Amino acid sequence: MQNLLQRSMKSTRPMSTLFDPIRVGDIDLASRVVMAPLTRNRASAGRVPNELMARYYAQRADPATGAGLIITEATQISPMGQGYLDTPGLYSPEQVAGWRRITQAVHARGGRIVVQLWHVGRISHVSLLPDGQAPVSSTARAARGKTYIAGGFADVSAPRALRTDEIAGVVEQYRQSALLALEAGFDGVEVHAANGYLIEQFLRDSINDRTDGYGGDIAGRTRFLHEVMQAVCGAIGGGRTGIRLSPVTPANDAGPDSDPQALYGHAVSLLAPLGLSYLHVVEGATGGQRDIAPFDYAALRRRFGGPWMVNNGYTRAMALDAVASGAADLVAFGKPFIANPDLGRRLREDAPLNVPDNKTFYGGGAAGYTDYPALAAA
Ligand SMILES: Cc1cc2nc3c(=O)[nH]c(=O)nc-3n(C[C@H](O)[C@H](O)[C@H](O)COP(=O)(O)O)c2cc1C
Repeated sequence: MQNLLQRSMKSTRPMSTLFDPIRVGDIDLASRVVMAPLTRNRASAGRVPNELMARYYAQRADPATGAGLIITEATQISPMGQGYLDTPGLYSPEQVAGWRRITQAVHARGGRIVVQLWHVGRISHVSLLPDGQAPVSSTARAARGKTYIAGGFADVSAPRALRTDEIAGVVEQYRQSALLALEAGFDGVEVHAANGYLIEQFLRDSINDRTDGYGGDIAGRTRFLHEVMQAVCGAIGGGRTGIRLSPVTPANDAGPDSDPQALYGHAVSLLAPLGLSYLHVVEGATGGQRDIAPFDYAALRRRFGGPWMVNNGYTRAMALDAVASGAADLVAFGKPFIANPDLGRRLREDAPLNVPDNKTFYGGGAAGYTDYPALAAA
């Protein structure tokens, strides 16, 4: 009897592996291998997604060989949200049509795809913005950093601080873009609240120097994030809305917050009631040191309670262990997916990986984009 009971308890709660299906909010995934958001700067005039991009995503879409979920490259919600050359947008009818071809190509291969909604804030350059305007941010202080514009790399431009009465308009742009995402056939969205861009510029006290209700204490600094997430979830449902956070990354001159554990703990307590599809966390410095600063990610996860996606420097062994041990529900891979369209299959079979060529990461054509060989042909 005891044994039977134990066995039946076991069978109702089987141990998951990286390759098992999972439901995240309203979205059913065939595996927990996720393609991380990757900016590739290959959109066409008008910041419109094109056929080459459709080919690239379709190559990675079959969950048996590629990703259980694709998160698109960061996609600006408005012309003022752009910070780099040739990144795609999601605010015009032409962009919706371009993205629709991509979501159709991914779905035709049995894949799932969400769009990463992006506003860069102060990480931008006047040459990229309408009428040469200054970028907008929580602050008027410039970041120390570069962006990529028509002539090559350039220092980011000095921003102006958004007026209090302008903030609702930016929140509305997130909402509109989320609605367009469904029109374009996406399975959902991921709000980009990581890597030193606009939402993080509000969150951190190292950047946000506002004296209105969107600055000051933790409640003030998380207000913009909360309003954006309430608006997006109100428009398309929490079950189709994910979020990306990076509590300690120094990316894009995001100085450390004075108390990241308290800040992000509060942020997650605001997010938990929204019933999000998942929370995606970049552990450590994006694309760098995982242990750059002490941070208790497990405490955040307990507060969140929903599907938990991890990223940053995950190897096959780390990813297998993260899911098997229950430390994470999903693992996102960035650079490995650039170079391996069939990363899912290679992880399953423990096959060797192609090495990504960082000279073709940002901009260009098919080379270093759609020409990485799959396993059979390698
Ligand atoms: C070429 C490139 C483009 C990236 N673009 C984005 C992006 O658009 N949005 C985002 O949140 N992170 C972006 N990242 C960060 C990755 O999603 C990921 O966090 C990082 O590469 C670490 O994961 P990995 O070790 O699996 O590559 C980018 C990274 C690279 C290398």
